[in-house]
Amino acid sequence: MKIVTIVGSLRKESYNMHLAKTMQERYQEKFDIEIADIRSLPHFDQDEENNPPQAVKEFKESVASADGVIIITPEYNWSIPGVLKNALDWASRVDKVFIGKPVMALGATPGMLGTVRAQMHLREILAAPGIQAKILPPGGNEVLIGFAHQKFDEQAGQLVDEGTLSFLDSKVEAFIDFVKSRLH
Ligand SMILES: Cc1cc2nc3c(=O)[nH]c(=O)nc-3n(C[C@H](O)[C@H](O)[C@H](O)COP(=O)(O)O)c2cc1C
Repeated sequence: MKIVTIVGSLRKESYNMHLAKTMQERYQEKFDIEIADIRSLPHFDQDEENNPPQAVKEFKESVASADGVIIITPEYNWSIPGVLKNALDWASRVDKVFIGKPVMALGATPGMLGTVRAQMHLREILAAPGIQAKILPPGGNEVLIGFAHQKFDEQAGQLVDEGTLSFLDSKVEAFIDFVKSRLH
């Protein structure tokens, strides 16, 4: 199973990137996770959407060829960061690589609300006509990691909180079942 992960933070010591790397290692027997390079994406420009820069082509190809996408994002000002919205805007045009794609969303913040407002915005965006992703249904499947500074080992760059890891294990299993159900 091929999974592409999109991380909505460019920060070197990003908790959300640490989470992506933790998942890449912890679930390596379950799926291949490639972490998309969204730093290289230029600002979306509708004049270029039919013949976009190489970085955009590569990003769209990796989403198109994935069985599922994991989006891991901080919350910026009660929404998703611009870099993530920019990536989704590129993906939403011309070949519309997210249509029907299974998506799991997660987020980490030092704050207490665990990126819930960003996640709610993200769900709206993923339902837009140019995106139409198939997001893992809510109702127990949201992964909202608050108080991230207490749950990550910043030296090791890993999520280490046992309760969060075991919750994550069960949600990853739910996502794998969700992806498989859409493959058949
Ligand atoms: C521009 C900006 C806006 C932010 N807004 C929020 C917010 O609305 N909610 C929140 O929980 N944290 C907010 N934060 C704090 C981030 O959660 C924190 O910087 C976090 O570490 C960013 O994720 P990262 O570690 O993956 O880079 C904001 C940070 C920045 C830089």
